[in-house]
Amino acid sequence: MRVDIVTIFPTFFDVLGVSLIGKARDRGILDMHVHDLREWTHDRHRTVDDTPYGGGAGMVMKPEPWGEALDAVLSEDAVLLVPSPAGEVFSQSMARELAEEKHLVFACGRYEGIDQRVVDHYAARGRVRLVSLGDYVLNGGEVAAMAVIEAVSRLIPGVVGNPESLVEESHELGLLEYPSYTKPAQWRGLDVPPILLSGNHGAIAAWRHEQSLARTRAHRPDLLAEG
Ligand code: ADE
Repeated sequence: MRVDIVTIFPTFFDVLGVSLIGKARDRGILDMHVHDLREWTHDRHRTVDDTPYGGGAGMVMKPEPWGEALDAVLSEDAVLLVPSPAGEVFSQSMARELAEEKHLVFACGRYEGIDQRVVDHYAARGRVRLVSLGDYVLNGGEVAAMAVIEAVSRLIPGVVGNPESLVEESHELGLLEYPSYTKPAQWRGLDVPPILLSGNHGAIAAWRHEQSLARTRAHRPDLLAEG
């Protein structure tokens, strides 16, 4: 998969060189390119923002640099992803959809967002999705893009060493994941649940399912209501 990221803070994405994503890049599974939006400005101050029409607080990102940048990095196959608190809420099912794509392009806005005509222009010519990380406001799209990239890339075959580890995790089965334990069997007076030491795989699976249900009931009853 090819991933292009356009941002005014390219160094934010230096962390994508480490861990499983870094390895996937080294092995050619992920072809990631980070671009500085200011490369597509033409004034001495490399201006990317201006005051909003209609008034109001904050600054809006100008359409011209975004137009030049996205014309340069988008391809026929690309999905343009625009992180925004006004977007659809990112989910595991959206991650699964995006993991099937050949090319993702992230347009990371700052300030009060990007001039709406940028989204309108590209939505008339290709696939564009506004994506929100959740019901809270970040300073810009960079952290959201990073979360989406990590959630999507670990679903690409070969990125996570053991594909079985993807199957039982939170949200894959519509429930939160059960709690996990490792050695030692006792730590600070706390025992590992004895069922996990029983060797009875059927009983262990049933216990884990119960734990998943209990956690989901406690923390995310909305997931059970969705049926
Ligand atoms: N930019 C600012 N807040 C955001 C959010 N919650 N999700 C995605 N992008 C954002």
